[in-house]
Amino acid sequence: MTHPGAGWSIRHWRREDYPSIERIFKDCLKAFPWRGPERDEIIRLRQSLSANVAFVAVEKRAGVIGFLTLEQGKAYVPHVFVDEDWRFCGVGSGLLKVARGFVGRPLQLDVDVQNTAAIEAYTVLGWRERAKVGRGRNEQVRLIGP
Ligand SMILES: CC(C)(COP(=O)(O)OP(=O)(O)OC[C@H]1O[C@@H](n2cnc3c(N)ncnc32)[C@H](O)[C@@H]1OP(=O)(O)O)[C@@H](O)C(=O)NCCC(=O)NCCS
Repeated sequence: MTHPGAGWSIRHWRREDYPSIERIFKDCLKAFPWRGPERDEIIRLRQSLSANVAFVAVEKRAGVIGFLTLEQGKAYVPHVFVDEDWRFCGVGSGLLKVARGFVGRPLQLDVDVQNTAAIEAYTVLGWRERAKVGRGRNEQVRLIGP
């Protein structure tokens, strides 16, 4: 997928994308103080990248500006993260659209209840709540996409 106006495109991830993916991920985690240790999150990210399909959004000068991991069999999205400087440019919805097209059925993901910004974005995109999952600090909402 290519966004002609904003100049980014989406493709499968490659190993050389990893440093940029990790940088974006770590930057985003700073906004989630309720999350557990960063190293646990990084381990889960690496496991997800090695076991699953992943896409990156790339812009010519900026390089990787967002990424998404996808458990294809479950149509489940463990990660969708966009560089803060590139938000509200359609990158998140573009990554979700590509993943939705790849699996051919509605996607699901879990979002922290504290992550109101992401919940607002998913609501705008037509996602709806399926269930509450987790408890206390780990309480999340399971959402299903259109
Ligand atoms: C959530 C996230 C992936 C959205 O990515 P994005 O590239 O900014 O999203 P898009 O530009 O594609 O926006 C899609 C729609 O959501 C809306 N939207 C995006 N962020 C929003 C926000 N914080 N509040 C309200 N609406 C928002 C956009 O306006 C757009 O609506 P439109 O189609 O009517 O214009 C991004 O904010 C992000 O990476 N957040 C940090 C990591 C995170 O929380 N990931 C999700 C974990 S489950």
